Amino acid sequence: MKVTIDGPAGVGKTSVGRQVARRFSLLFIQSGQLYRALAYGRINGLQLDSLSLEPGDKTDPELLMDGEKLKEELTTEEIGEKASKLAKEEEIRELVNEIIIDTAADRDVLVEGRDIGTAVLTNAEVKIYLTASAEERARRRKKQMNTDRSLGEIEAGIKKRDKRDQTRELAPLKPADDSVIIDTSSLSEREVVDRISKIITKRKTREK
Ligand code: C5P
Repeated sequence: MKVTIDGPAGVGKTSVGRQVARRFSLLFIQSGQLYRALAYGRINGLQLDSLSLEPGDKTDPELLMDGEKLKEELTTEEIGEKASKLAKEEEIRELVNEIIIDTAADRDVLVEGRDIGTAVLTNAEVKIYLTASAEERARRRKKQMNTDRSLGEIEAGIKKRDKRDQTRELAPLKPADDSVIIDTSSLSEREVVDRISKIITKRKTREK
C-alpha cells in the first residue's frame, strides 16, 4: 500500500503522517527532509549524491550524507528557506524522487510532501491533500516553535513559501486529480488522523 499526503507548509503533514504511518505499519518518508538535507549539504560542501535514506526505524528513518547522520541540523528556518529555493532545480528534484521511488519499490510507505501524488508516486492507492488557511497554519507553527517571532511575520513567511511552491515550473504544489482534499482549519489533529485512517481502511477492504 502506498499513501501520499501533500499540502503547503505548516498544514500538519508531518505529525498527522507519522501517526497514520504508525497505525498502518507504513514506512514514513518526509520528502521535505530530503530537500533540507540537500540544502544542508550544499551549504556545507558535502557530496549531494551520497544522500541515502536508511529505513531501519519505520516512523523515523535516518538520512545520511557523506556518512554523516543528519537530523536536528535540518529543522532550522534557514535550512527550510534554502531547501525551498533549491527545490526549483531539476537535478535536485530528480535526486529526491529517485530515493523515494527506490525506497517505495518493495515497501508499504506513506510519503508526505508537495508533489508526491502528482509527480512522484502517481500510482499510489491513497492520495490525500491537506489544506488550511495561512493564518491558521501560522498559529500552529508559532505554538510548535516556541518562538519570539510575531504571528504576522510567521504568516508572511508561510505565504512566501506557498507562492514559491505553487508557482514553480517543476512539480508545483497542487492537489492530484485523484486526491481527497481535507481542509484541516477547523479540525483537530486527531480528527484528521481518523479521517485519513478511514479512507485507507476503506481502500484496503476494497482490495481484499
Ligand atoms: O516540508 P518542508 O518544509 O520540510 O520542506 C522544505 C522545502 O522543500 C519546502 O518549502 C518545499 O519548497 C520543498 N519541497 C518540495 N517538494 C516536496 C517536499 C518539499 O519542493 N515534495
